[in-house]
Amino acid sequence: MSEHLTVVDHPLVQHKLTLMRDKGTSTAGFRRLLREITQLLAYEITREMPLTTTTIDTPMEEMEAPILAGKKLALVSILRAGNGMLDGVLELIPSARVGFVGLYRDEETLQPVQYYFKAPEGLKDRLVIAVDPMLATGNSSAAAIDLLKEAGANNIRFLCLLAAPEGVARMKEAHPDVPIVTASLDRELNEKGYIMPGLGDAGDRMFGTK
Ligand code: URA
Repeated sequence: MSEHLTVVDHPLVQHKLTLMRDKGTSTAGFRRLLREITQLLAYEITREMPLTTTTIDTPMEEMEAPILAGKKLALVSILRAGNGMLDGVLELIPSARVGFVGLYRDEETLQPVQYYFKAPEGLKDRLVIAVDPMLATGNSSAAAIDLLKEAGANNIRFLCLLAAPEGVARMKEAHPDVPIVTASLDRELNEKGYIMPGLGDAGDRMFGTK
């Protein structure tokens, strides 16, 4: 992907996003919509995956048919809200390998600290798609990408539902080689680090924890 930021303006994505933003949407509805939008965004983020061909027999004749080339892609969820995007991508790409990155923010230094990391083997030969619905300050996203690069990944994309300009700028500075695909570039962060107009706390809304 040549663009650092791609906003998917497809009408279905935008319609579903509006339903997700609405505070009256139920937990179950929010989860379903996130899965559906993620599939549409995943379609976009995988658009340039390399193909090769394989010989198959259709009921009519033999043919050389296109098939994905290379190792299975690695999907990495940034805990915990990233988990809400896993199912959508896995329905589209069932053979993807899955990893997890857990980070918390140190209250004194305000820096992200790793508490969990588990990634599929052979990251350096895979397309790696990191998923987190909310790209807010970008600090934890940038730290998660640091960890993936330390583990060998060199072809990484970042998939999110909403992005704040501050987060996009942070990612561009730290990881200009990582294209971002999102459903919306929102206005700004508020003083508490929430995306405005946003949709609130994505984790709480998808897991019903508030
Ligand atoms: N994380 C969220 O869940 N929501 C925001 O608005 C920002 C970060």
